[in-house]
Amino acid sequence: MRILVTGGAGFLGSHLCERLLNDGHEVVAIDNLFTGRKLNIAHLLKHPNFEFVRHDVIDPFKFEVDQIYNLACPASPPHYQYNPIKTIKTSVMGAINCLGLAKRTRARVFQASTSEVYGDPQVHPQPETYWGHVSASPSARGPGCSRPPRRRSMVTRRSTRSRRAIGAT
Ligand SMILES: NC(=O)c1ccc[n+]([C@@H]2O[C@H](COP(=O)([O-])OP(=O)(O)OC[C@H]3O[C@@H](n4cnc5c(N)ncnc54)[C@H](O)[C@@H]3O)[C@@H](O)[C@H]2O)c1
Repeated sequence: MRILVTGGAGFLGSHLCERLLNDGHEVVAIDNLFTGRKLNIAHLLKHPNFEFVRHDVIDPFKFEVDQIYNLACPASPPHYQYNPIKTIKTSVMGAINCLGLAKRTRARVFQASTSEVYGDPQVHPQPETYWGHVSASPSARGPGCSRPPRRRSMVTRRSTRSRRAIGAT
């Protein structure tokens, strides 16, 4: 199969690329190298079935693929809080662009997320049937677009309503 890995130069993405190549697949990795490093995939760059494209998932992309693993998002708090609006765009636009590509190519999509979607969970471990314990307030934490803009964002500080809108979406 031909497989797209977004965030392919990151911690999980680089190992996933390696695994998929070892399993005999063709792999296209895209990454803007915000937190990822080319060094992570240096050993894969000469692999005949591997292709790396420096690209931001906020911008549309077109590849003929059978599967998409969407891992492109800074994972650690200092990184995803560094530019909260960019993080939201990465999560939302990245997912939309992956889904758009999947619709066109009929590829299956894997969307990476984090246990932060459950908020402060009341159940451990969380089964798939558990909906979480999440506050809709701006201080609620979650991955992707529910990671709230924080102090650095001038736009979102001006109005509680827009913070809510962004934080809770
Ligand atoms: N590492 C973990 O233990 C863990 C656990 C659960 C979920 N996850 C999720 O898995 C995903 C990957 O985590 P990770 O630990 O590999 O993080 P990571 O920061 O090492 O990798 C993310 C990759 O995405 C790239 N990236 C960020 N923004 C991008 C953009 N706009 N366009 C293109 N590439 C972009 C980064 O450069 C990096 O290479 C994240 O969504 C994370 O929340 C990770």
